[in-house]
Amino acid sequence: MAHSIIFDTDPGVDDAQAIAIALRHPDIDLVGMTTTFGNVDVETATHNALLLGEVAGKPVPVAQGAAAPMVKPRHPAPAHIHGDNGLGNIDLPDVQGKADARSAAQFIVDTVNARPGEITLVAVGPLGNLAAALQIDPGITARVKGVVVMGGSIREGGNVTPVAEANIFNDAHAASRVLSADWPLTLVGLDVTHRCVLTPAHMARIEAGQGELGRLLAGSYAFYREFYRQALGIDGCCPHDSLALAWLVRPELFTTQRGHLSVVTDGLAEGQTLFAPAGRAFIQKRWSTSPEMDVCLGVDGDAVSDWIADTLA
Ligand code: BDR
Ligand code: CA
Repeated sequence: MAHSIIFDTDPGVDDAQAIAIALRHPDIDLVGMTTTFGNVDVETATHNALLLGEVAGKPVPVAQGAAAPMVKPRHPAPAHIHGDNGLGNIDLPDVQGKADARSAAQFIVDTVNARPGEITLVAVGPLGNLAAALQIDPGITARVKGVVVMGGSIREGGNVTPVAEANIFNDAHAASRVLSADWPLTLVGLDVTHRCVLTPAHMARIEAGQGELGRLLAGSYAFYREFYRQALGIDGCCPHDSLALAWLVRPELFTTQRGHLSVVTDGLAEGQTLFAPAGRAFIQKRWSTSPEMDVCLGVDGDAVSDWIADTLA
């Protein structure tokens, strides 16, 4: 049975790869996209989300959302990783469509309430839209089918600070609300995304298989690859956001543990995700007060990379 999803995103090179999967995979029904600041400003994110649907020949509704974090000032966009246009500074065709008139949060609330028990929220950017949707209608926690968040890091360390992953760090207050809400959530963080490398050989198959969309994905990948070569010394890219979809469609490739999540919102550890395994007693209860979630801690990274290339080849 197909998974009906809303994809909350800040495209972004790895977001674009994941959007292509969401548009192409037969087991995924992409109901709409909601956009946030993060890898780019929110207007660019909306432009890129519309563009990717159009280039794939499958335009889907796109609703624009958070332009900045809920509480703190916004950090500069990482143009050295994703390019100024979010897609590796390659030339892009014009966009024909327009964003939905509703805010991202309202789009999420309306869609979830219209189809109770059917919609999975897959969030791969800072979490302001999901937090705002919870604020508009806290009852959506009982009506979503599931929530999958690409973000955080339990044992792996951070990628934007020694302890924080980018999506959580970019709006730690929003993340705190989303990761402690009472809904069926799975966290797909750096513990698994750093175990997965999309190689140039994978990318060549994707480029050959996707026509104009393949050109766009491969062009932006080339820019992103250079960042990984310099930063991590690897030849290839971690396809972070695609792992949220891999978890949805191929959960047998992952190992998870249940437990409670908290997010540090201030100080040197700002943006860190803390994990208290279910049933384990600590010196106080304060790390274990939020509902239990599933957290991905292991993955067959090669199998996920092959799944991505097979889906798009
Ligand atoms: C996450 O941060 C963004 O830069 C990527 O698109 C991904 O969602 C990885 O930390
Ligand atoms: Ca992203």
